[in-house]
Amino acid sequence: MTDSLQFLVRRNLQAKSDAERAAILENPGFGVTFTDHMVDICWSEQGGWHRPRVQPYGPIELDPAASVFHYGQEIFEGLKVYRHADGSLHTFRPDANGRRMQASAARMALPELPVSYFLQSIKELIAVDGDWVPSAPETSLYIRPFMFAKEAFLGVRPAKKVAYYVIASPAGAYFTGGVAPVSIWLSEHYSRAGKGGTGAAKTGGNYAASLVAQNEAYAEGCQQVLFLDSVEGKYIEELGGMNVVLVYKDGTLVTPLSDSILPGITRDSVLMLAEERGLRVERRPISLDEWRRGYENGDIVEAFACGTAAVITPIGQIKARDFTIGDINAPAGELTMSLREELTDIQYGRRPDTHGWMTRLDA
Ligand code: PLP
Ligand code: COI
Repeated sequence: MTDSLQFLVRRNLQAKSDAERAAILENPGFGVTFTDHMVDICWSEQGGWHRPRVQPYGPIELDPAASVFHYGQEIFEGLKVYRHADGSLHTFRPDANGRRMQASAARMALPELPVSYFLQSIKELIAVDGDWVPSAPETSLYIRPFMFAKEAFLGVRPAKKVAYYVIASPAGAYFTGGVAPVSIWLSEHYSRAGKGGTGAAKTGGNYAASLVAQNEAYAEGCQQVLFLDSVEGKYIEELGGMNVVLVYKDGTLVTPLSDSILPGITRDSVLMLAEERGLRVERRPISLDEWRRGYENGDIVEAFACGTAAVITPIGQIKARDFTIGDINAPAGELTMSLREELTDIQYGRRPDTHGWMTRLDA
């Protein structure tokens, strides 16, 4: 196997004009518009990874019996490309996303894409769609690599034919309110992932399982859902699409340790920044009760959600059927906002990248 692939590039003859693209980039929202091209690589049991292509963005033709439609054998990733002040394009810890995609593949019985191919696929897409990376503050190009079972076969076993794609979508703030504190609904009835299940993999089924609870959240005026462990219903896990970190008044940061949550790259990075400031970081089981009591007696002073899409977003309150933790009208936590600033400064090139986290894509 070689370290790099020879991509066939087919340009989109109906690519958006400069003016059309500029209009989209002015107010990108999240996940609603897509660039002019996409990448795909095929995999088969006999042929391994083959036919790497960059082609016009558009519908994928699949056999109705493709097993992804029936058994959900699918994984994805999410990372962002940032435009620095000099116009150059950079992404954040893409190797970590590439390795996590391999871990998700292993759990879902999909083939592992070499990390070098993962990185190359993103570079190939940026080579044709780099103009789609917006430059306004807090904006970026969200990259969505994904892989699914495309073999037409209704027996239940891992597919022998698989496709890997990369699409990209210009992004502003994930939450419509920007960086304002969010309200989170506590899911007391539904679990996201079970013991021995797929919670630590980035696979569509975990998100499908979260949607009914997400609907409850919307009905309760909340933006996200907090899930508890599925065994005892006692320990906090994560939100539908983000990790959770709590801050004690002595500056200690605590975050759930569980094998059924997604190991977030944003969380890992922000906790590293906190440790470098001399703050204590604890990765351990955290009961909902600890959060509730800690908030009530003033020991827990801040909470935030973190993930690629949402960056770092202050949690204003947790709303449950019978109680509330926090105060949605309280200002965003100071440590939360200062860690957010440090992280985004690195990502947007406003502070030196002393960790070697950034990878330049346009050179
Ligand atoms: N947890 C879930 C369920 C997610 O979907 C995400 C987003 O990717 C995260 C956590 C945060 O992960 P990361 O920081 O790597 O984006
Ligand atoms: C991400 O942050 O990349 C995610 O996948 C989360 C999703 C809610 C968009």
